[in-house]
Amino acid sequence: MANLYGVGVGPGDPDLVTIKAIQLLQKADLIICPEKAKGAGSTALGIVKKHIGNRLDHVRLMVFPMTGKKETWEPAWRNNAEAIVEAWKAGKEIAFLTLGDPSIYSTWSYLQGYLPEELQPEWIPGVSSFCAVAARLQTDLVLGDQNLAIVSSSDEEAMRNALEWTDTLVVMKPKRAIASIHQILVDENLTGSWEMVSNCGKGTEKITRGSVDEFPEEIPYFATMIIKNGGSNE
Ligand SMILES: C[S@@+](CC[C@H](N)C(=O)[O-])C[C@H]1O[C@@H](n2cnc3c(N)ncnc32)[C@H](O)[C@@H]1O
Repeated sequence: MANLYGVGVGPGDPDLVTIKAIQLLQKADLIICPEKAKGAGSTALGIVKKHIGNRLDHVRLMVFPMTGKKETWEPAWRNNAEAIVEAWKAGKEIAFLTLGDPSIYSTWSYLQGYLPEELQPEWIPGVSSFCAVAARLQTDLVLGDQNLAIVSSSDEEAMRNALEWTDTLVVMKPKRAIASIHQILVDENLTGSWEMVSNCGKGTEKITRGSVDEFPEEIPYFATMIIKNGGSNE
C-alpha cells in the first residue's frame, strides 16, 4: 500500500498541475504543505488552492526549517516524519506537496531519509521549473547530441566545470550567487548568452536576458537562468 504520495505541483501556474495530482488532492485525507518557517506560508499550497476547493480542512502546514546547523533543524524534520508515519499507519491517504518536480532539489527527497524502509511512497512527477522556464523563453534546452547540466548556484566550481562540457547550463537558485554567476559569464565570454525567468507562471513573472552590463543586482528566489554555452541571444 502506497498511501503516501510526493506530489509535484509544478512551478506556479495552477493550470500546469497534472490531472493525477488534482485527483489526489481531491481525495487525500491529509494534504501536507511544507513551509520554511511558521507563518511563512506554503508556495505549493498557493499553486493548488483552486484544485483543493472546499477541502481546506484536509490541509496541514508543516514547518521544515532548512538553514543553520543540522542539530537545530533536524528535530523538526524527525517530528514531521513521525507525524507522517503515524498518519500512514492509521491508513490515511497522504499527499505531500512539493514545488515543481519531486526529484529536483525538493524537501520531499530529503524527507525520504527520515521514513522507515517499509514505507514505499509513490512519487508523482510535476512540471519542473526549468522546463517551464524553457517553454516560457520558447527555447530548446538540448537538441541532437547536445548535453544539459543542471547546477545549484551555490557551487561555483560545479558551474565552471560544467561549462567545460555542457551545451546548456541551467542555474537553479541563482539568487544565492549573483556575483559569481556574473564573473563566470565574463570569464567564459558568455555575457550575451543567458536568459532568466523569475516567478515563472505567477502574476509577478519577469523575463531578463542579455548583456552582463545589465546583470541584475537582485534576483528573486524563484528564478531560473539558462545559459547557452557557445550561442548568443544578443
Ligand atoms: C528548492 S528548488 C525547487 C525546484 C523544484 N523542485 C522544481 O522541480 O522546479 C527552488 C528553485 O527552483 C527554481 N524555481 C522554482 N519555481 C520557480 C518559478 N516559478 N520560476 C522560476 N524558477 C523557479 C528556482 O531556481 C528556485 O530557486
